[in-house]
Parts: sequence; C-alpha cells; structure tokens
Amino acid sequence: MKMISRATFALFIVAMLSSGIGESRKTKIVTTSFEYNAINCRAHTASLTDFGGVGDGTTSNTKAFQAAISNLSEYSSNGGSELYVPAGKWLTGSFSLISHFTLYLDKDAVLLASQDMSEWPVLSPLPSYGRGRDAPAGRYQSFIFGTNLTDVIITGQNGTIDGQGAFWWQQFHRKKLKYTRPYLIELMFSDNIQISSLTLLNSPSWNVHPVYSSNIIVQGITIIAPVSSPNTDGINPDSCTNIRIEDCYIVSGDDCVAVKSGWDEYGIKFGWPTKQLAIRRLTCISPYSATIALGSEMSGGIQDVRAEDITAIQTESGVRIKTAAGRGGFVKDIYVKRMNLHTMKWAFKMTGDYNSHADSHYDPNALPEIKGINYRDVVAENVTIAARFEGISNDPFTGICIANVTIGLSAKAKKQPWTCADIEGMTSGVTPPPCSLLPDQGPEKISACDFPQEPLPIDSLELKKCASSVLLS
Ligand SMILES: *[C@@H]1O[C@H](CO)[C@@H](O)[C@H](O)[C@H]1NC(C)=O
Ligand SMILES: *[C@@H]1O[C@H](CO)[C@@H](O)[C@H](O)[C@H]1NC(C)=O
Ligand SMILES: *[C@@H]1O[C@H](CO)[C@@H](O)[C@H](O)[C@H]1NC(C)=O
Ligand SMILES: *[C@@H]1O[C@H](CO)[C@@H](O)[C@H](O)[C@H]1NC(C)=O
Ligand SMILES: *[C@@H]1O[C@H](CO)[C@@H](O)[C@H](O)[C@H]1NC(C)=O
Repeated sequence: MKMISRATFALFIVAMLSSGIGESRKTKIVTTSFEYNAINCRAHTASLTDFGGVGDGTTSNTKAFQAAISNLSEYSSNGGSELYVPAGKWLTGSFSLISHFTLYLDKDAVLLASQDMSEWPVLSPLPSYGRGRDAPAGRYQSFIFGTNLTDVIITGQNGTIDGQGAFWWQQFHRKKLKYTRPYLIELMFSDNIQISSLTLLNSPSWNVHPVYSSNIIVQGITIIAPVSSPNTDGINPDSCTNIRIEDCYIVSGDDCVAVKSGWDEYGIKFGWPTKQLAIRRLTCISPYSATIALGSEMSGGIQDVRAEDITAIQTESGVRIKTAAGRGGFVKDIYVKRMNLHTMKWAFKMTGDYNSHADSHYDPNALPEIKGINYRDVVAENVTIAARFEGISNDPFTGICIANVTIGLSAKAKKQPWTCADIEGMTSGVTPPPCSLLPDQGPEKISACDFPQEPLPIDSLELKKCASSVLLS
C-alpha cells in the first residue's frame, strides 16, 4: 500500500457499488489522525476538501473556507468543531472564524493570502486608534479574522500561513494604499484564544494582533519576514488581559513583540489597558527594531508585563519604551529578567518624544506615566550604546531599577555608554557604570528589581491532549 502522506495512519480502499450501467468505480477514502495540545478539544472534525477546497496554489478557496466554517457553526453549542486543512497550497482571501472552533493546519499545509483586493473586506478603523495606520479611512480585514468570539484555536503541526506580503509592501512604499494593510491574524473582542505551532511568513503588516481580548496563549510560533519589510511586527497584544507568549522565534522588519493599547485621544477615551502579560523564551532578530517594545501606542495603559529568557541577535534594542506627550496612559510594573543580547545598537531604550500622532487633535497636556521598570540578569555583547533613557521634562520616568546587568561594548562603541535625561531610579551591579541619575546602591540591592511573587492567572491554565481523525476523500 502506498502512503499518501506521513500524517496518514490508516488507508482503506472501499469498492463502491456499480452504477446503473454496470461499470464499477473505486474510491479511496483515507483517514488521517492527529494529536495536539489545546485549551479545548472538539467533538466534530471536517476537512476543507469536504467543501470543495482545492490545494493547487492557484484556485481561490475563499468560498470553501466560508462554506466550511458556516457549516461547522452548527456545532458551536454542541461540542465545538475543527476544520482540518490538508497538505497543499490553499490560496484564499480573508476569512472569519467562529466560537468553539479550531483551525488545524497539516504540517505541509500552506495558506496563501490572495492578492485580489475584492477578497479583502474593509473594516472601520479600530476605535482605540481612530484611524488606520497606513491610511485614515478603513482597514483591510486581517487574513484570518475573528470578532466577539470565545474559545478559538489556530494551530497545526507547524503548518504555514503565508501573507505574500511583497505585494502589499510595494503598494505601501508607493503610497498606493486606499486602506490600511491587513494583519495576518487578528482576533477582536474575544476570550480564550490559542495560536500555536505555526509558521507565519511575509505578513502584509503586523503578524499576530489580539485586540480587546483576554485569556490568550501564543505558543511555538515561528515568524519570518525580510528584516527590511515595513511594519512586520511579530506579536502585538493590544488592549488585552492575561496573555502568555512562549517559545516563539521571530525574524522581522519591526518589533518582535510590541505591547500596545491605543493611540492618543482615541486610546485615552477607549481606555482598555494591556495587563498581565508573560513573555517567555523568545528569540528575536530585527536589526531595525526592538526585541520587546512597549508602545508607542500605549494610551489605554500597559501594566504588569513579565518577560524572561529572551534572546536577541542583531536587533536594534533589547527593551524599548516609546511614548510622547499627548499619549496619556501609563507603562508601569514592567519586569524583565534573563536576557541574552548579541550585537545591538542599544541594550535599553526609553523615548519620551516618539511623536507619531494619530492627528492634530491630541491633548499636549496628556502626559504618560512611566513608572516601575525593572531589568535584571542581562548579559549583552557587542553593544554600541548601553542605554539611552529620555523621559519627558516635567514628567520624569520613575522607579527604574536595573540589577546584575553586564553590557559588553563593541569596538566602535560611543564614548558615553549611557545617556539619561528626565528619569529617576537605581542600579546594582551594572557594567559599564551607569549614569548619575541611576546611582549604584551596592550589591545587596540586587533583588530590588525582582519579579512579583504571585503568578499570573494564565499560568494556571493547562492544555488538554486532543486526538482527532478525519476522512479525506
Ligand atoms: C454540513 O455538512 C454536513 C456533512 O457534509 C451536511 O450533512 C450538512 O447538510 C451540512 N450543513 C450545511 C448547513 O451545509
Ligand atoms: C463586539 O463586542 C463589542 C464590545 O462588547 C461591541 O461593542 C460590539 O458591538 C460587538 N460586535 C458585534 C459584531 O457583535
Ligand atoms: C517550523 O518551521 C520553520 C520554517 O520551516 C522552522 O524554521 C522551525 O524550526 C519549525 N519549528 C518546529 C518546532 O518544527
Ligand atoms: C546574574 O545574572 C547572571 C546571568 O543571567 C546569572 O547567571 C546570575 O545567577 C545572576 N546573579 C544573581 C546574583 O542573581
Ligand atoms: C559587532 O557588531 C558590529 C555592528 O555594530 C558587526 O558588524 C560585527 O560583526 C559584530 N561582531 C561580532 C563578533 O558579532
């Protein structure tokens, strides 16, 4: 018997009964089984091919995805459902997910984003941003989209979602876009989300954008885009609560993880912070951007972020806080430990004049509060500038705590490794010796910048083992 694919565990040949005129026909029915870990398992499984999907890389599957997901919505209140995408190249426009649903990609499945503009619905700007980032009017719906959902999973055996972004980057550079570029995956107003075990390639813009959502796990994601591609941020939790980002590898043209919460007066009015975020075992390569950025859109506030075991190579900065007068909001209770940095421009950066306003209606007196920023156990090598910390005059960034940090400077490092203005804080055991605004409090203060003791609620969430099988005809 010939194996159809490595994921095929059983193969049945069923002889179909002869038709009216007597000739007989043989149809192969293949059962594929797969196992994975998830926040929830599903009672019903179907394959995209049941709904007319064609994985030849050129036929549009937008209607097949819509038909499949609409059919499976019958099971939302009856055990949930799972859509299996087999090996193949599945060209499709944007499509929307439903609640109690899993999109599962075979390891050799590639979703290819269509370049036919009619396959991309246009949405209004995000309420906390007031306008689109590329164009003030609407924004193209993300490639994989969901809103007002609960219990939604996008996973696979490291299957691929390819945004075919070059087309969009070119339109962006030529200023030909009528609407803001689509993200690769966006879930809005949703609860209980898992995005795991996938490879994301060449997103038109940001890759993973959970917004106004809670209880989110992002795990085992590989994100790859050219380092010069515009705005290809990796993972952007935006006005979200209780999130775990783990074991991700990101090479991109913008920040690997960018924590956000809305823009200027729109974000202040909307007022949804991002809080309770854990980032663990992240590897980042991004020569023109940050490993972890907080902002620049932070007007709803960012609080209680805990990042640990972070590796960055050839990345512009380790942790970067970006804000400006007019943003309002806050960035507080930020904890980072065990970072390994190789070849960086800045190990740490804070900018209080990152202007980039949504429009001219922002309130210049809306000053952000930046407070309680803690970095410890960091080893960096081949760094040009240890840190550049620039607060806002009459609005200093306070409670900066840096301990047990060794920054090896590169041969062409600046004479002055630290630049500090409008900040307050302390250090302990930091090399090279920091600026006078961050006085060394001696080795006994090394634990001053520790993580909080109590875990985040998301840490108690354990994944279930799911096993499924599906008939492929
Ligand atoms: C969904 O698919 C099942 C199985 O193919 C079929 O019996 C049912 O009629 C479909 N429902 C809809 C709404 O298409
Ligand atoms: C989704 O939820 C938000 C917030 O609760 C609400 O404002 C919005 O109208 C909902 N949208 C839909 C399509 O139900
Ligand atoms: C997933 O695929 C990417 C791209 O081929 C590869 O770099 C990565 O190592 C794979 N991850 C796993 C966990 O197999
Ligand atoms: C200082 O940081 C290094 C590197 O992360 C770590 O091995 C060491 O245990 C830390 N020292 C203390 C006292 O925590
Ligand atoms: C150090 O960084 C410079 C860029 O600043 C780079 O050209 C060089 O290759 C790096 N050296 C090592 C040993 O990584």
